[in-house]
Amino acid sequence: MIQSIYKQDLFKDKVVLVTGGGSGIGLRITKELLFLGAHVVIAGRNEEKLAHAIDELHDYQHQVSAVPCNIREEEQVEQCVDAILSQHSRIDFLVNNAGGQFPQPANEMKIKGWRAVIDTNLNGTFIVSQKVYNKSMKQNGGAIVNILANMWNGFPEMAHTGAARAGVENLSKTLATEWGPEGVRINSVAPGIIRSSGFDTYDENFTAYLRQAAKDNKTYRLGTEAEVAAAVLFLLSPAAHFITGETIKMDGGEPLNNPKFPHKEHGKMPPWDGSGKF
Ligand code: ADE
Repeated sequence: MIQSIYKQDLFKDKVVLVTGGGSGIGLRITKELLFLGAHVVIAGRNEEKLAHAIDELHDYQHQVSAVPCNIREEEQVEQCVDAILSQHSRIDFLVNNAGGQFPQPANEMKIKGWRAVIDTNLNGTFIVSQKVYNKSMKQNGGAIVNILANMWNGFPEMAHTGAARAGVENLSKTLATEWGPEGVRINSVAPGIIRSSGFDTYDENFTAYLRQAAKDNKTYRLGTEAEVAAAVLFLLSPAAHFITGETIKMDGGEPLNNPKFPHKEHGKMPPWDGSGKF
């Protein structure tokens, strides 16, 4: 059973669409939302991953369902949103978590790879947000949380996703302005280096680099999926009703590095991994 810092039933009967909810950070967000009483629809391109997640979530079988959907394809997104609305009649919250990228120096990047990442991480986020807004949130209000990345000083060897996530950050402010009058909030969480299942998809060299880079923040460790989920759930919760167009950086203060204040292991900020006492 999952642990949460939030009170029981906080999201009772809320309907949430989590893109990329079949694995990693998206799955952790999904589990905590289910634990707190929400109905969650996980959407993703990989049907096998979705089926695996549904298996894993069998304790919540009456609260969770999966819809296969490639967020790059407008028609598929429309069908996905329509299917959710025919079952639940509204979508209260959207977590734009689906995304993908691969490490490569910018000068070697093929335009096809560049376009694919922009298409998923930026265009896909826009398409899903627009459909959910037009078909539900415009009438009923709601909240959207986008998952970004630590791209504040550029994103070396990830130029495509850095540009896409920076685009989503700006998009959030536009949507917060345009959709705020209809009672819709749009915020983001920008994770630093998180110990997630996505980690296993990178090659050894890149993983070694990430592990070294993990010491480059105030906690001297990697972040956890539970920590990212906690920030996402806060932004969805009523405690954040006065917050829109904002981004929470969840990165241990990594962008605040200063050679005069080198990081060291202190053990005073242990990971909130959902299982510890606090
Ligand atoms: N996860 C990664 N890429 C995706 C896509 N294009 N659609 C949905 N989920 C995804």
